[in-house]
Amino acid sequence: MPADLLAGLEPPPPVREELGPGAVVLRGRVLGVVPALLAAVEHVAEVAPFRHMVTPGGFEMSVAMTNCGPAGWVTDRAGYRYAAHDPMTGRPWPAMPDVLRDLAQAVAEEAGYPGFQPDACLVNRYEPGARLTLHQDRDERDRGHPIVSVSLGLPAIFQFGGLKRTDPVRRIPLAHGDVVVWGGPSRLFHHGILPLKEGTHPVLGARRLNLTLRRAL
Ligand code: SIN
Ligand code: FE2
Repeated sequence: MPADLLAGLEPPPPVREELGPGAVVLRGRVLGVVPALLAAVEHVAEVAPFRHMVTPGGFEMSVAMTNCGPAGWVTDRAGYRYAAHDPMTGRPWPAMPDVLRDLAQAVAEEAGYPGFQPDACLVNRYEPGARLTLHQDRDERDRGHPIVSVSLGLPAIFQFGGLKRTDPVRRIPLAHGDVVVWGGPSRLFHHGILPLKEGTHPVLGARRLNLTLRRAL
């Protein structure tokens, strides 16, 4: 069959929504690589299992987390920080799978941040009811680098505010395959996830996965 007959089957280019200064949503951007992403997460979770970490204030987080890459984000009674070792196993975090690094680099460039070299990937797992309260990502050494966030599974409402906690907060629905990138003037904007609604996703069941790729060190 001549190749041009198949040209119409190419996936449409991702729809780009500007969220604010330096922040963009790329709708469906990773739909073509979902199996590779899920295999990567599965491998990471075999080495460094998902766990519910404790906040410095002593609350167990409703989101289960793990990490890959040289730096892993952790929280416990001592505070929030990046650590080279998984406190649960005492071993280094699993290496960042190439598919995650390459994808993050490519989408960061599309969002206007060329040369992004992530060294940390925090993997969040939400079940219905799980939430992430409004916060800033501020444990990274150099905030000149963006955050790349990949959503899989059940949909969620992403809250995106401003530099001040009291700034107005937008609510952006995020679906399976969507990517959000924020950096530059919005790098320290407050953000969070409203409690996940009940549901069953055809690929992930009653779960949402979120991968945030960062330059931490
Ligand atoms: C995060 O802020 O680390 C995760 C946001 C999300 O789950 O979409
Ligand atoms: Fe965050």
